[in-house]
Amino acid sequence: MKYNKPSDLHQSHFGDDFKWGVATAAFQTEGACNAHGKGASIWDTFTAKKGRVKSNHSAEIACDFYNSYKKDIDLLKELNIPNFRFSISWTRILPNGTGEVNQKGIDYYNNVIDHLLENNIEPWVTLYHWDLPQALEDKGGWTNREVIHWFSEFTAICAKQFGDRVKNWMVMNEPSVFTGAGYFLGIHAPGKKGLSNFLKAVHHATLATATGGRILREHLPNANIGTTLSCTNIEPASAKKKDIAAAKRIDTLLNRAFVEPLLGLGYPMKSLKVLRKLKKYMLPEDEKATQFDFDFIGIQCYTREVIKSSFFTPYIGAKLVSAEKRGLPTTEMGWEIHPPSLYHMLKKFNAYPQIKKIIVTENGAAFPDKVINGTVNDTKRTKYIQEHIAQVMKAHKKGLKIDGYFIWTFTDNFEWAEGYHARFGLVHIDFDTQKRTVKNSGYWYRDFLSDKNKS
Ligand code: BGC
Repeated sequence: MKYNKPSDLHQSHFGDDFKWGVATAAFQTEGACNAHGKGASIWDTFTAKKGRVKSNHSAEIACDFYNSYKKDIDLLKELNIPNFRFSISWTRILPNGTGEVNQKGIDYYNNVIDHLLENNIEPWVTLYHWDLPQALEDKGGWTNREVIHWFSEFTAICAKQFGDRVKNWMVMNEPSVFTGAGYFLGIHAPGKKGLSNFLKAVHHATLATATGGRILREHLPNANIGTTLSCTNIEPASAKKKDIAAAKRIDTLLNRAFVEPLLGLGYPMKSLKVLRKLKKYMLPEDEKATQFDFDFIGIQCYTREVIKSSFFTPYIGAKLVSAEKRGLPTTEMGWEIHPPSLYHMLKKFNAYPQIKKIIVTENGAAFPDKVINGTVNDTKRTKYIQEHIAQVMKAHKKGLKIDGYFIWTFTDNFEWAEGYHARFGLVHIDFDTQKRTVKNSGYWYRDFLSDKNKS
């Protein structure tokens, strides 16, 4: 399908059941990092250390969503956004990760959920968006198999407390990123490095994902239960055999290794030797325990990566050829702008017959926005979103499974190691004054959602 101009894109073409929304996460937006009994998370600890985050930014205030959720939800309403994805901060509910429950934390999320529902906005809850309780990290965090029990306790509490009103759940956010960046490269919290930390974290996160799904199902048999995965379109740098093989290894690591065990296919150890080392951490019953029949899989695709074979890269024998080197347009994150990648990934995930439904639970772009005379004319973001929705439309028209699309993100927020330098929002925030200014992309999405651009 050739998409020519924004007016060719109509929300109504996707049907009434298609879920449109925006996605956010607790640590990136809430602030109030120790308000009303909240315990410290690994990201509170990580951001307090110098040199970990650009400009040493911290998220003590972030978007102050904890205090301004009512106004922000009202703004969602004004923008016609019908579905809101947010995560629950584990340490607001269980300040030490297990044991004593903090009622004030429960009250807060009850208020958020109730205010969303009063405004006819459907809550979509992620249980884990990277903010592990520091008290649990002190006991090894994701490298300690006990984490499955700790996470189960948290999951059961959330199901019991919020499940009467929350119908849509995502167990985990992008385990490949929090295990890779947090436990192998050390560039995200908790800043751990090394292969054995990584492999343990991967296996425990996979088990916790499937276990979380089972607990939700047990408590909420009618809920819509999913989990989200980061996925990147991987292409070889050349037609050389060794580059093609290198690209396959990266695809196995970034894409297949996280979804396939959940689908009952096990880890793709045949395609990537280093994954065989996972066996060391697996019990006989684990192969079965990593499987869960999710109602939907959330895919989060922002870009493509081009891969070259590299003798010097341990374990994986491959390296990225940056978009900058390839002379292609990028976002503020240095990620290539390549909308067809989203279609490729939808096709790839559609090829797994075990997946029932697919929702794009995140897609979006960071650009250096400026407020000029009260306006943010973010044409590049609007174009990025339009071109990605066009790829979703192509998939939909071809009859692929695709049931929703959520933009990352609602307001500018704390972008992990980038601090406040990368702005992904449809709404600009002046972080000195907390003033919100809807960007032109936000107005475009509003009009698209009300089908005002219908010809
Ligand atoms: C994460 C978000 C993040 C976004 C942009 C995703 O990997 O889920 O938390 O802000 O991408 O980097």
